[in-house]
Amino acid sequence: MAIERIVDIDAHDSDEEQKIEVTLRPQSFKEYIGQERLKNNLKLAIAAAKKRSEPIDHVLLYGPPGLGKTTMAGVIAHEMGTGFKVTSGPAIERAGDLASILTNLVDGDILFIDEIHRLHRAVEEVLYSAMEDYKLDIVIGKGPAARSVRLDLPKFTVIGATTRTGALAAPLRDRFGHIHRLEFYNEGEIVKIINRAAKILESEIQPMAAKLLSTRSRLTPRIANRLLKRVRDYADVNGDGTIDERITTEALQLLEIDNLGLDAGDRNLLASMINTYGTKAVGLNTMAAITGDEASTIEDFYEPYLMQLGLIERTPRGRKITNKALKHLGHTTQDNLF
Ligand code: ADE
Repeated sequence: MAIERIVDIDAHDSDEEQKIEVTLRPQSFKEYIGQERLKNNLKLAIAAAKKRSEPIDHVLLYGPPGLGKTTMAGVIAHEMGTGFKVTSGPAIERAGDLASILTNLVDGDILFIDEIHRLHRAVEEVLYSAMEDYKLDIVIGKGPAARSVRLDLPKFTVIGATTRTGALAAPLRDRFGHIHRLEFYNEGEIVKIINRAAKILESEIQPMAAKLLSTRSRLTPRIANRLLKRVRDYADVNGDGTIDERITTEALQLLEIDNLGLDAGDRNLLASMINTYGTKAVGLNTMAAITGDEASTIEDFYEPYLMQLGLIERTPRGRKITNKALKHLGHTTQDNLF
């Protein structure tokens, strides 16, 4: 079925973890920490739509995973006081699946389409006219008897999420009235998110521990909350449940997260680039071949944070390791890296 429950994108989480993830999600602008510019834009759009008693224009949210695109879509539905249906690009296999989703919506509903850049072409074309003038064009029957019919649809809002707007066909992108990028959070915001989550989980966390965790969370709420849960496990087993700096340091060591928040996967990517190409520029597909990861995983997940930290840089000839990365992995810039 193409309509999915709201779940964390991380398929590795158990049901219990997913439930916690949903409990930690802020529901309103008031609870949502960070993304101030985006919130201000959306607040204005929502106030205007409410004043006119209309649905808000379609919204496209883009940016690296874990920054709160799904959460923000839920907040918009909550603030509008409308229904919220969740699906994803790959889950809508045929135009007929989309037709059944759209005909089951009611006026004002918000349809959240995660990974919208992965919609099938035939589905995308049905979505164009649905978004543009709330009409559904469907073909009934086959061969010479086939007829095309145009159905009226309720006035709904699509909120699309994607890691890359570049991967979206221009006609689809053009149908969104609001296009916004989610930014990495700053450490102060991540500290607030960690403290809020600890309170909901009824865990005591000391300020130095929250600060330490914030520096290891890739400036990403989903990772901050995940690390908090792992450190909380460690504190429950190896202490009295209080999360202090010592417990946090030990738990992070066990998780192999270093002082820049890099995990074994990040370090493997950097080390593979250095060992194979030194400081020369490397193409994305070559990076994928040397690490064994999908090119899209490198581009969507690893690269944004490594670039944010200045460990790799993009050049017209490909990605390059920086001196900061060499230093972080224990090389000196004088090392003879071919
Ligand atoms: N949990 C995850 N993301 C959050 C955010 N932006 N604000 C508050 N709590 C969160």
